[in-house]
Amino acid sequence: MNEQFLNDVVTGLSAKTKKLNSKYFYDDEGDVLFQKIMQSEEYYLTDCEYEIFKGKSPALAGVFIDQLKSFELLELGAGDASKTKFLLEALVNRKADFTYMPIDISGSMITYLEDNLPSKIPGLKVTGLNGEYFPMLEKVKTISSRKKAVLFLGGNIGNMDPDDALAFCKQLHASLNPGDYVLMGFDLRKNPHAIFNAYNDKAGYTKAFNLNLLKRINNELGADFQLADFEHYNSYDPLTGACRSFLVSLKAQQVNLDGQAFHFKANEVIDMEISQKYSMEEIYDLGNQANFEVVETFFDSKEWFLDMLWKVT
Ligand SMILES: C[S@@+](CC[C@H](N)C(=O)[O-])C[C@H]1O[C@@H](n2cnc3c(N)ncnc32)[C@H](O)[C@@H]1O
Repeated sequence: MNEQFLNDVVTGLSAKTKKLNSKYFYDDEGDVLFQKIMQSEEYYLTDCEYEIFKGKSPALAGVFIDQLKSFELLELGAGDASKTKFLLEALVNRKADFTYMPIDISGSMITYLEDNLPSKIPGLKVTGLNGEYFPMLEKVKTISSRKKAVLFLGGNIGNMDPDDALAFCKQLHASLNPGDYVLMGFDLRKNPHAIFNAYNDKAGYTKAFNLNLLKRINNELGADFQLADFEHYNSYDPLTGACRSFLVSLKAQQVNLDGQAFHFKANEVIDMEISQKYSMEEIYDLGNQANFEVVETFFDSKEWFLDMLWKVT
């Protein structure tokens, strides 16, 4: 049994507002459901960033090749790297001297990338690292002293509360050396309906993705959540930019886990995930406070999403 997973779940369900950590969404079934979310009509984030990578990868590859010469390309929370592939192709086409190092807590995603990318992009070197962001970043430092470009794409930074995002950016800055690069994806504030719909897809993949974590807790930790007694609810607050996913207990009920009983009142919620939306001002503030220097901004044509290129100073 994964002791850390158990401890985190017990701590989360014991809190005044029950909470589960969204990093645990990604077991094998969660990975597949997230890919379905990315392909759904309503989830615009992937399409926007796909457009950026399809169009801007040659320019981005040029910056990395000219500035870094020989480097490691790290990707934190790589998932299926469906957008990164354009950058990898652009780098390989220009015979860049680099290794792609995807880091992901999901072992199945790392295996998938190591098995598939080298045959799809001949000449690409891939070293996958299965684990959490910072421990894996430290591991990279023990195997390579080359310069680094770090990708942190999609909704990843948005899955942190703004305070945690700042702490994350500061820690990332401290883990890198002057002259290294970071490319970070930000979902921008926009019409609230578009944001709301992205997390309430008609096919129900977001709902299934949230409920799958309860299923995972049942399967891996031996809990007895009755999935039919919980429903998914998502809200977006245009004042704060916080889009939040919850599971709502449909009745008063008790869930048993590891010899403990957790009581739910009717309509009590479990806080599942934040997907924070950013204004340009907030992004510039975040970079400034973490001591990153803005190099370039890459937008999609609707200006719904931004990939910000920062340099470590
Ligand atoms: C929202 S998905 C985004 C995937 C990809 N970045 C994209 O834009 O398509 C988040 C990914 O980050 C991974 N992840 C989440 N928390 C993590 C952590 N603390 N350490 C390492 N990987 C993590 C998940 O397993 C998942 O593959």
